[in-house]
Amino acid sequence: MLQDQKVSFSGVQPSGNLTIGNYLGAIRNFSTFSEQYKCFYCVVDSHAITVRQVPADLRRRTYETLALYMACGLDPEKNTLYVQSQVSAHAELAWMLNCFTMFGELSRMTQFKDKSAKHADNINAGLFTYPVLMAADILLYQTDVVPVGIDQKQHVELCRDIATRFNALYPDTFTIPEPIMASSGKKIMSLADPTKKMSKSDENTNAVVYILDDKDTIIRKFKRAVTDSDTVVRYAEGKDGINNLMTIYSCYTGKEFDEIEREFDGRGYGDFKLAVGEACADALAPVQARFRELMADKAYLEEMMKKGAAEASYYARKTLSKVQRKLGFVQLK
Ligand code: TRP
Repeated sequence: MLQDQKVSFSGVQPSGNLTIGNYLGAIRNFSTFSEQYKCFYCVVDSHAITVRQVPADLRRRTYETLALYMACGLDPEKNTLYVQSQVSAHAELAWMLNCFTMFGELSRMTQFKDKSAKHADNINAGLFTYPVLMAADILLYQTDVVPVGIDQKQHVELCRDIATRFNALYPDTFTIPEPIMASSGKKIMSLADPTKKMSKSDENTNAVVYILDDKDTIIRKFKRAVTDSDTVVRYAEGKDGINNLMTIYSCYTGKEFDEIEREFDGRGYGDFKLAVGEACADALAPVQARFRELMADKAYLEEMMKKGAAEASYYARKTLSKVQRKLGFVQLK
């Protein structure tokens, strides 16, 4: 890594299909970072097993997530793209950081509270210490910035607390990371309930547009999107559904809200919804074509995984060995 080059780290779960919320809120902005930062993008399969997975599905989704990252424009030559479980330093540092994380801190994590309510029959210790593994992911690379959705901000803040605590005991160990939010389309809402974030795990599939949905499905989902009883396409308080559709349309077309209002002046919601659906489907078509090409070439994907894991390990091992030395572990040459 160049001395003056800042590091960006982010992870995506392989546990579900990616949505346009993931795409507009995070992935689409990842590639612009590679100009500015040394970027690590990690498919977090170790995080995924905190809830039960069907092994064959987890394996397939790991390939798919990597292929999707690449199809969305992430160049594996310019970014380090890899799979978490293939770099064992993540699990090792997570253990050490567990010993510097307080029970009370983890109990306050809202995602833990939500997930333990949802998976009441499997509140395992991994679910509880999930943010510690996430802190290890970030801290291993001396990360400066973490591009995340708003729902992950609390975890990044905990990571900062852990790193600050560790540095107070063992100076100059970790860089303290900053969470950064995507500048536009940071939060795409559910099409069925626009007061809720669009979530890939939503049971109502009409609420969610997946990056890999075909054109007809995309248009159908936008047609059914929940709006309001008004008829004017206008960005305003209380018009959550229309506001969300305007945000999505703006992300895909680059148009400002007042431009969109003028474009649909005197036209109904039906026209607007169709336009949003078409803009979305057209933007996703080349991504989907590239994705299919990559998925047909597993050997190439595996080659990229190997390259990514080797690169990531190189940096991760440096931090890990520094931490081991500071903690007093005997290191053999
Ligand atoms: N927890 C994140 C999510 O569910 C994924 C993640 C794991 C992550 N490790 C990370 C994100 C490190 C940013 C940095 O979306």
